[in-house]
Amino acid sequence: MNGAKNRDPQAREIIAGDRQHVWHPFTQHGTEGEPTVIVRAKGASLFDAGGKEILDLVSSWWTCTHGHAHPRLNEALAKQAGEFEHVMFAGFTHAPAVTLAESLARLLPGDLSRVFFSDDGSTSVEVALKIAYQYWINRGEPQRTMLLAFDGGYHGDTLGAMSVGRGSQMFSPFRDLMCKVCVLPYPSTFEGDEAVEEREAGALSAFEALLADRGQTIAALIIEPLLQGAGGMRVCRPHFLKRLVETAQAAGVIVIFDEVLTGFGRTGTLFALEQAGVVPDLICLSKGLTSGYMPLAVTVAREAIFEAFLGDSFDRALPHGHSFTANPLACAVALRSLDLFEEEQTLERIAAINARHRAMLVELQTRPDVTRPRVLGSILAFDVKGLGAYQSEESRALKAWFLAQGLNIRPLGSTLYLMPPYCVTGDELSGAYAGLIAGLDTLTG
Ligand SMILES: Cc1ncc(COP(=O)(O)O)c(C=O)c1O
Repeated sequence: MNGAKNRDPQAREIIAGDRQHVWHPFTQHGTEGEPTVIVRAKGASLFDAGGKEILDLVSSWWTCTHGHAHPRLNEALAKQAGEFEHVMFAGFTHAPAVTLAESLARLLPGDLSRVFFSDDGSTSVEVALKIAYQYWINRGEPQRTMLLAFDGGYHGDTLGAMSVGRGSQMFSPFRDLMCKVCVLPYPSTFEGDEAVEEREAGALSAFEALLADRGQTIAALIIEPLLQGAGGMRVCRPHFLKRLVETAQAAGVIVIFDEVLTGFGRTGTLFALEQAGVVPDLICLSKGLTSGYMPLAVTVAREAIFEAFLGDSFDRALPHGHSFTANPLACAVALRSLDLFEEEQTLERIAAINARHRAMLVELQTRPDVTRPRVLGSILAFDVKGLGAYQSEESRALKAWFLAQGLNIRPLGSTLYLMPPYCVTGDELSGAYAGLIAGLDTLTG
């Protein structure tokens, strides 16, 4: 299917080297076809070695916000590279990190103002879990060790992150390595859902029952606010989130918002938390933080959490850090990316994408093979009758079909979704919708 592009001699050489030496993530090399060699990217598109344009409708694993190879971000990166590229972050500091921390503290609500830097979504979650766990030790309540998470949640692939993502059913080989986590039901909803209130009440009462039974042993609760990404673009209502957070915080449970995916405009507001009007105790951000340019993440804590780590001995300090913590190149790009939200009126762009998605939803709802349609911010998602589980043969064939049409659309189990970079044009979106419908038609034959 990808034969045309892969006849390019340079691409063949890259593929041969890839085959021999590279181990790709989330890939069964025994069955996976040839990877696509990308040589260039611009705006919402990637270009392969044969010059073919591929519209990036998954925003490069949900990272790319403003668009690929953005001139302003390129400039910021080059400028910082000309000054200094790396500084160890214990005992040293630098302006890109401090200015970024100040900017994030200004943008986040309440006293979410203490920024711990790390490298990717998983590590930002790992840091949040470790902060929550040690917080209770430092506070003299070491019996609070249990973590709560949600059915279908995904928080990354390191051990702690996998443990709280156990409800995603992705990590069966590692079950025995995981830490103690209790999984709560997630009241996912969709357009026209009539049972949502009942589902929300069920989830909240399961949580309340757990609090009544074992409240004093619970350290923290983690949730992807408004949208479970890898679990299948499953949406919950702000109203549920608000009640959940209020109940947890009233019981003294630390609330962690994993906004690794939802942060930086994905759900229509800069952060998903704005729609629920709540302030979590810890928030994890990555992916869109650098518009997908550089691996960078932050875990931002409320000041009271940070204060529990102060003292006159190292025992109370957080013993955690990474070689690339607060990498100056990444911080410089992140800062420039934040400016772009105002310069390019990015939230208005997202609102325009949302309006187009909503219009498309009406068409999708007329199809008998489409179920549970949903739109949130820049994301359109729905389930497809007959499309199998994650990495099933049909879903891999459909992914390859989309790619052959120049569309990077990747089914998540039986879910299809579009999550374009915010620079996507109306014409590009129209092409994506037409491709989506044609792809559905291939399934129904
Ligand atoms: C909500 C959420 N949290 C954490 C992660 C892990 O991020 P990373 O892949 O950068 O480690 C992801 C990745 O998709 C995610 O969607």
